[in-house]
Amino acid sequence: MNKMHQINSKILIYVHQAIRFIINKMTKLKKKFAVLGHPISHSLSPKIHQHFATQFGIHLDYQPIDVESTNFKKILSGLKQEGYEGLNITLPLKNLAYEICDELSPKADYTKSVNTISIKNNKLIGDTTDGLGLVTDLLTKNVSLENKKILVIGAGGASNGVMCDLISQRPQSIFLTNRTITKSHDMSEYWSSLAKDNNVLLNILNLKEDITFDLIINATSSSLGNDSAIFPENLNGYFWYDMMYGKQTPFLLKAEQNKAKFSDGLGMLVEQAAAAFNIWHHQKPDTKSIYQIL
Ligand code: ATR
Repeated sequence: MNKMHQINSKILIYVHQAIRFIINKMTKLKKKFAVLGHPISHSLSPKIHQHFATQFGIHLDYQPIDVESTNFKKILSGLKQEGYEGLNITLPLKNLAYEICDELSPKADYTKSVNTISIKNNKLIGDTTDGLGLVTDLLTKNVSLENKKILVIGAGGASNGVMCDLISQRPQSIFLTNRTITKSHDMSEYWSSLAKDNNVLLNILNLKEDITFDLIINATSSSLGNDSAIFPENLNGYFWYDMMYGKQTPFLLKAEQNKAKFSDGLGMLVEQAAAAFNIWHHQKPDTKSIYQIL
């Protein structure tokens, strides 16, 4: 009886999805979305969201829009008038988006970062999916976090933006380090109570200690600028993850020299996009097939 009930529920879900797919196909009007940032021409988000949309028969108009901090607010109000339903926000606007949104998810509020805006009833509702994107990609790559020792390099928006989700995986400890170490101390203080609630030890990396980390995450923007990347010497880790993607960074080179396993952040990009897609369209896209077209 119970089994019968489960089969019936599954059939109902398939029927429901099929009906939504057909309705989406029949609705010729395109839903308007965009990704805002500067620079933006390199962004893979339009390609990713279009690919997801085809999985559900959704007609999507997803544009990259180059926006600088100075005209962000003005552009946002224009996009609201034009009937946009959702916006992804990328560098350097995530913190500004946090400040501008009318409403925030608890996570966006905590991380002070917004990468996904839903526009409803003329209101900007902000959320962040970067942390979930990172954690989902790591778990997909069989890098488990529970009870593990993690090192996070960087103390800017990118590292703070993923802390909620990292802590929620209940690693044994998260060590922090940064070129400007005072910022790691501030970061540690900010996250201390959430870490304590989740039984996670939060530490500042002490360079005299010889620790082999299960996971080292590079959350710095070191490969974007022209200065040479400054990381602690003698890092040891089983898995190295660079949140940047698309090029061989000094961090990944170090991982290779150390004969460690490593990954760039392309999977994080894809998974944060999938989480944003789910917020907007209430559908979870398949993310495995996308890598062939990126
Ligand atoms: P984002 O939002 O990308 O995190 P951010 O808030 O400006 O940008 O933070 C950039 C981070 O990258 C900081 O931790 C920064 O270190 P400082 O706090 O010392 O500035 C780090 N960073 C930038 N360039 C770096 C480099 N060449 N070597 C090491 N760390 C670097």
